[in-house]
Amino acid sequence: MAVAAPVRSLCPADWRREVARVGAVHLPGAWVRNQLPALDFGRLAESFDALPLDRHLHDGGTYRRRRFSRFVWERGATALRRLPHQTFFQSRSVNPLHGGFPRHFAPLPTSTASDPALAQLVGLFIDCLPIEEDTLWVNVHQIRVLAGEHPVGPAPEGIHSDGHDFVAIVLVRRENVVGGRSIVRDAAEAELVSTTMESPLDAVVVDDRRTLHGVTPIRRAGPGPALRDMLLLDFNRPTGSSSGSGSGS
Ligand SMILES: [Fe+2]
Repeated sequence: MAVAAPVRSLCPADWRREVARVGAVHLPGAWVRNQLPALDFGRLAESFDALPLDRHLHDGGTYRRRRFSRFVWERGATALRRLPHQTFFQSRSVNPLHGGFPRHFAPLPTSTASDPALAQLVGLFIDCLPIEEDTLWVNVHQIRVLAGEHPVGPAPEGIHSDGHDFVAIVLVRRENVVGGRSIVRDAAEAELVSTTMESPLDAVVVDDRRTLHGVTPIRRAGPGPALRDMLLLDFNRPTGSSSGSGSGS
C-alpha cells in the first residue's frame, strides 16, 4: 500500500541524543505540529471514533477500544509498506496480564492506513530515534480508553516495557478526563519523564529496551463522555520481533 512519507529530517540532534543517552524524550504537541506544518490530522483523529471493542481485557472490561496494523518503514522511500494482518501475541514475561495467548485486534481501515498524516508522524518520530538502520518494522496501535466515575487504568499492566526497540506514545485526543500521567523510568527506577499529555500530538519517545513506562489511571472529570485516544508506535529493527504490544500507554 502506498502512503506518503515525510520528506525532511526535523528532529533536533539534541533530542535524538537524549533518547540515546537517557532513553526517553518528551516531544510537545506544539513542536510536532510546527515540524509538520502540512499535517492534516483531522481524519486520523476522527478514525478513533470507529474503534472496535478490545475483547481481551483480563477484567472483562469494556472501557478500551483498539485497532492494530503492521508496516515497514524504509529510509528515503515515498511510502510505508503495509504488512499482512496477523493475530497479535505477546509473551507472558513481557505482559503478565494479557500475554501468553493470541489476541485478535481489527486492522486499521485502508483510509487510515493510507492517511498521509500517519506516514508523516511515523517519519517524524523515527527521525528522533538514535538509529543507523534504513529499515524498521512499525506496529501501529490506535487505542481509546473510555473513562467513568471510577478510575480505569489505560495500561492495566502497570509500569512495563513492551519488548520493542523503541516506542512512541502519542496523544491524539483527551476529553473530560483527569489523571493519565505518563511516567518513564530507567532500569534503576529513576524517573526520566513524568508528564500529563494534554495537547494533541504531545508525545514521549522511549528506548523500550532500557526503560519502563506506564500511565496513572484516568476518570471522568464531569458529566458527559470522557475519553483518551492514543496512537502507539512500536519500532523494531528487522532482526527483532515485529510483534508485541504497545499495551495501552
Ligand atoms: Fe506500553
